[in-house]
Amino acid sequence: MKELIIDLKNQILQEIKDVKEKDKIEDIKVKYLGKKGKFTSILRNMSSVSKEERPKIGELINISKNEIEEKINEKIEIFNKIELEERIKRETIDVTINKKIVNIGHRHPLNQVKEELENFFVSMGFSVVDGPEIETVENNFNKLNSPLDHPSREMSDTFYIDKDLLLRTHTSPVQIRTMMSTKPPIKMVSAGRTFRFDEVDDTHSPMFHQIEGLVVDENINMSNLIDTLNTFIKEFFGKDMKTRYRPHYFPFTEPSAEVDVSCFNCKGKGCNVCNGTGWSMELLGCGMVHPNVLEACGIDSKKYSGFAFGMGIDRITMVKHKINNIRLLYDNDKRFLEQF
Ligand code: DAH
Repeated sequence: MKELIIDLKNQILQEIKDVKEKDKIEDIKVKYLGKKGKFTSILRNMSSVSKEERPKIGELINISKNEIEEKINEKIEIFNKIELEERIKRETIDVTINKKIVNIGHRHPLNQVKEELENFFVSMGFSVVDGPEIETVENNFNKLNSPLDHPSREMSDTFYIDKDLLLRTHTSPVQIRTMMSTKPPIKMVSAGRTFRFDEVDDTHSPMFHQIEGLVVDENINMSNLIDTLNTFIKEFFGKDMKTRYRPHYFPFTEPSAEVDVSCFNCKGKGCNVCNGTGWSMELLGCGMVHPNVLEACGIDSKKYSGFAFGMGIDRITMVKHKINNIRLLYDNDKRFLEQF
């Protein structure tokens, strides 16, 4: 009996030693030490052992069982340690490894210029107002004193949604919205997208951007307009920039003017960009707000007067960054955009 127990114990210890997987060690535990396990069944055969020998055999069995259990636990611990080491190896972060530099995005050049323009006018005391891109015919044309037969109203120039709604053709309707909702004094700018039925070429796009300015108060006159715009041009484009006001026609202003600015390339000397004239033409439209426009918005034109101006943000972005093709602003080619 004694030999039987020792042999079995040695056989089990050898098996434990040889085990290569953690799962198998659990199997061994069940196979030998479980309720129906081989080692347990020896205990049941104790009846064949003489009374005197029983305590000794019982003790041997217990010692052997304990030894087996100890070895099983040791082996399980070895497996756990190996597992942990492998996990640490897998999950270690190498902080010295070369990291790929992640390119974060940035603002589109048009939005950068739009923001610079807004910031400049805010510094002059203007507030920034937003307006919808889908406008009423009333705000886009009627209240702006636009004659019913004005060519810009034609289907060939304007994207109509129905007979009363359209995609705004300029930012001027935001003037109307502001005057309808706010009492003078008013000093606002509004920038955003505008739409016209234009064929795409180097300088035209059916969607483009404008910024609009409006000042309404008592005693506002043409010299206020000229002073504001001259300050803007000098601050925004350079102290040596000159301006030239040419009489023009806009339905919503009277008198109206177009503003030319010293050529951005030669600063007025004359070069091939300005055809030798020294001027960049038609950078801005402006004028004194037509009394009909003030009255249409419920503002007393005898008490109040105002000036307004509008300009293309695309054009300003193009002269500022010497871009010769408007398509570049809308193609979203990363090679172009990454330069800003
Ligand atoms: N709305 C005009 C356009 O789209 C630009 C403009 C001209 C706006 C004169 C004005 C202005 O406010 O006074 O061409």
